[in-house]
Amino acid sequence: MNLRTDLPPIPFIDLAAQRRRLGPAVDAAIARVLGHCQFILGPEVRAFEAELAAFCGAKHAVTCASGTDALVLGLRARGIGPGDAVLCPSFTFCATAEVAALVGATPVFVDVDAATFNIDVNGIAGAIDVARSLGLTPKAIIPVDLFGLAADHAAIAAAAEAAGLYILDDAAQGFGATFNNRRLGSFGHATATSFFPAKPLGCYGDGGAVMTDDAELADVMRSLRMHGHGSDKYDNVRIGLASRLDTMQAAILIEKLKIFPDEIVARDRIARRYNEGLADVAITPTVPAGSTSVWAQYTLRISGGRRDALAASLKAEGIPTAIYYPIPLHLQQAYKHYPVGRGGVAVSTRLAGEVISLPIHAYLDEATQDRIIDATRRVLKR
Ligand SMILES: Cc1ncc(COP(=O)(O)O)c(C=O)c1O
Repeated sequence: MNLRTDLPPIPFIDLAAQRRRLGPAVDAAIARVLGHCQFILGPEVRAFEAELAAFCGAKHAVTCASGTDALVLGLRARGIGPGDAVLCPSFTFCATAEVAALVGATPVFVDVDAATFNIDVNGIAGAIDVARSLGLTPKAIIPVDLFGLAADHAAIAAAAEAAGLYILDDAAQGFGATFNNRRLGSFGHATATSFFPAKPLGCYGDGGAVMTDDAELADVMRSLRMHGHGSDKYDNVRIGLASRLDTMQAAILIEKLKIFPDEIVARDRIARRYNEGLADVAITPTVPAGSTSVWAQYTLRISGGRRDALAASLKAEGIPTAIYYPIPLHLQQAYKHYPVGRGGVAVSTRLAGEVISLPIHAYLDEATQDRIIDATRRVLKR
């Protein structure tokens, strides 16, 4: 019952531990870029794109300046804009819906499944109906592989294809995870990911990429990320943006991708240990058969209004937690005027009051994890 306030604070994500492991390899990679000075779309960008595509089994990878831009490129390349509806979950990071609004389309919120936190496929038809009733053309769906768990891509494809929807997977958190033994990046028409430092595969700044098997779509995205250029750099054939992955970040990511498979194994081992240690005191995350998770977050559900007390007690013991996400998008000021699918979004609203994420990263040692597990158990058993 006693709080342990005598122990050192634990980091939520320990980027420094990974930095120590990568050591001189990253320094050398950065030095090479400083040597050739091709800071924009230099040789490392092309090399990384080839490795990224090979890693996830996609034909093309187009890198860009952030995960948000990756989603924008994915929508713009398909011509999605005003009058179009883009279905997305309400329980996600804001960028998923933000990009629909940014291209002038209308996000339509779909509820999520309480067990997986991912889009509830049963809500897709009702969201399409609502979109049509508002005079919108349902054009796309952005499923999210939330907290690192691959969504049910077979069911999503079936529901979306029946309605002719373009599927842009938001794998910002799930990149590296698999569905039916295939890595994310090869589901739907295109897959966006983020290299934000805290992501499972992060760089040392902002970065993102879109993967696709569609050569034409990839060409349009390459044009869009460079102001919409045509065959000549100064002949612009469409309105684009300036959104490239820095060569320096590509060089860093080449080194990080080498250890990523090993880190995925470590993250999974740590998540399983949490499950074993906490399953009798909290609702631990579910990984359905056919899906794997890269555990961008390890998220418990605490019902009965005890979630915030747990966060406060752990904080007092130097254990950080995070609430992803405290407000579902359909209740946020910038998004609450957008439509919600038939059937509502009650699960998203409920989860926002129950979820709490514990520290997780590939370098979390057992002693530190035991401290987190013990403290969590102590509070929840009170
Ligand atoms: C689900 C989701 N989508 C999109 C993004 C946007 O990525 P970025 O921060 O690289 O723009 C993030 C990350 O923050 C995310 O978690």
